[in-house]
Amino acid sequence: MKPQTIIAANWKMNMTNTDAAAFAREFKRIYKGQGDVKTVICAPYTSLSVLTAEFKGTGIYVGAQNMYYEEKGTFTGEISCAMLADIGVTYVILGHSERRAKFGETDENVNKKVHAALSNGLTPIICVGETLEQRNAGITAEWVMGQVRSALTGVDAAGAARCVIAYEPIWAISKGAVLSGDKSLVATSETANDACGGIHNVLKDLYGADTADKITIQYGGSMDGINCTDLLAQSYISGGLIGGASLNAENFSEIVRKAQELNVPKGVY
Ligand code: PGA
Repeated sequence: MKPQTIIAANWKMNMTNTDAAAFAREFKRIYKGQGDVKTVICAPYTSLSVLTAEFKGTGIYVGAQNMYYEEKGTFTGEISCAMLADIGVTYVILGHSERRAKFGETDENVNKKVHAALSNGLTPIICVGETLEQRNAGITAEWVMGQVRSALTGVDAAGAARCVIAYEPIWAISKGAVLSGDKSLVATSETANDACGGIHNVLKDLYGADTADKITIQYGGSMDGINCTDLLAQSYISGGLIGGASLNAENFSEIVRKAQELNVPKGVY
């Protein structure tokens, strides 16, 4: 069996509180309950309370896009795990490439955040991925595996089984996928699956097959309602972390719906 399919929206710095409430109402209208597929909306901090209230009792989960690992104190501008958990947030994106590249997020910080998230009952969505230069230099596997190992340093098998890994090749993020017409900018399903298979192998190496088989590996990088079918059909891809195509309730719902259609047992790895 593949691990739990998880389709997560990453709104990034988009959507005001008003927009978020409108999205939630529209999404609830369209969303029919998506069977075994878990749906998560990772929104800006300002909209999290509104979303947890709107989605209460619907089976739709809410996530943050970052947090700080300390419990409380003199960390102006930061948000703790307890603050997120207290308002009903259950997921948190950690180590997104935009945070690594634009806000100095390090492997060491990501690891501390993973520990803090797990101790507070949050599910970390740990993002890893290579630049185009790294891919062209042939070091994708080494780089991505290194990111996975460092994010999970000191995490035991029970903790790892609660994590989600998002493979997001940096060169494929925000390219608008099929809609842009330039497919060369987007990872092919095979390329994405190769990298996700490599991640699965590292997890197996670290924790054994039983644990590795439980860990959802998402693909992120211009997944949309068209290319999701191919991507999600791959053996090692069990979900998506979706930016641009998640900002519209109809578009995002299409991905969730297609994931559900595909979500039939495909046998073991
Ligand atoms: P994208 O973003 O779907 O717009 O490429 C994905 C992400 O960065 O999480």
